[in-house]
Amino acid sequence: MLAPPERLADFVSWPAEPEHVGRWPVYVDYDDSILDRARLLAGGGASEIERGSGVTATLRRTLRRVTNPDGRTRRNVDVLVDTLVGNLDGERDRATVLVVGGGEIGNGADRLYSDPRVEVLAFDIYAGPNVQFVADAHRIPFSDGSVDAVVVQAVLEHVLDPARVVAEIHRVLAPDGLVYAETPFLQQVHEGPYDFTRFTESGHRWLFRAFSRIDSGVVGGPGVQLIWTLGAVAAGLSRSRAVGRATRLALFWLRFLDRVVPQNVQVDGACGVYFLGRRAETPLSPAQMPGQYRGAQ
Ligand SMILES: C[S@@+](CC[C@H](N)C(=O)[O-])C[C@H]1O[C@@H](n2cnc3c(N)ncnc32)[C@H](O)[C@@H]1O
Repeated sequence: MLAPPERLADFVSWPAEPEHVGRWPVYVDYDDSILDRARLLAGGGASEIERGSGVTATLRRTLRRVTNPDGRTRRNVDVLVDTLVGNLDGERDRATVLVVGGGEIGNGADRLYSDPRVEVLAFDIYAGPNVQFVADAHRIPFSDGSVDAVVVQAVLEHVLDPARVVAEIHRVLAPDGLVYAETPFLQQVHEGPYDFTRFTESGHRWLFRAFSRIDSGVVGGPGVQLIWTLGAVAAGLSRSRAVGRATRLALFWLRFLDRVVPQNVQVDGACGVYFLGRRAETPLSPAQMPGQYRGAQ
């Protein structure tokens, strides 16, 4: 469940009183952020990207559900929550999960918000009903070691310096804290001017080198990737994003091809990758990296 805003005080460490956009406190160092103070305040904390509302938002969510299977994420979130809950000692009845870039609830991540033994704290670079504060992930306004887990789903491609964001995630995690990340590999640019990077599964492992691996793999294999690519081709030929979306919807069945493609082949052609890990104190060394490769070559 989403923690009440007053819980923030137990986690935040910030040198000044925050400004607010509506009811949302803003913890941003504007000298070192993609956010512009004047634009953020003038826009009332609204997203710079058009996210749709009402019917459009429902259509977008439906398209996402139909074309991007969320079974793998659901299973991973189950493992995350079950592990967190299993670690609760007698003194606490809830585990704390910080959701980075949580403006929208991620595909397959619903259990984080419905399980009464989980308390979600969430932020994004815009204000909205799913977050308690506005911040930039390059500087998370929480004390060291303050949360049990961090979830960062479909966000690291949108930050300018993913390694710095992951270092921040490591810092705010309690010793032995857990991280769950999903990041695109072969996927078209989305969110326009706010999309910067992609990761292979090995590259993602290196990004999370200061964590021990519990599990990692593919979210959406080459079949899902093909849906995105053919949608982009259709959008390009027709000069219409709506045609691109309709094409993706019509080709939803291509996702079932992933059921027959071996896992290691999927790694080399994944639409996205995930990493579930535990905060460690000794990072992987460069020489250990070739041994981390889990593809088919
Ligand atoms: C593709 S959306 C994913 C949203 C959600 N996590 C999901 O899985 O549906 C990327 C999100 O990252 C957020 N984001 C981008 N840059 C960020 C930053 N520097 N700090 C925090 N969030 C950021 C965006 O505002 C957006 O909400």
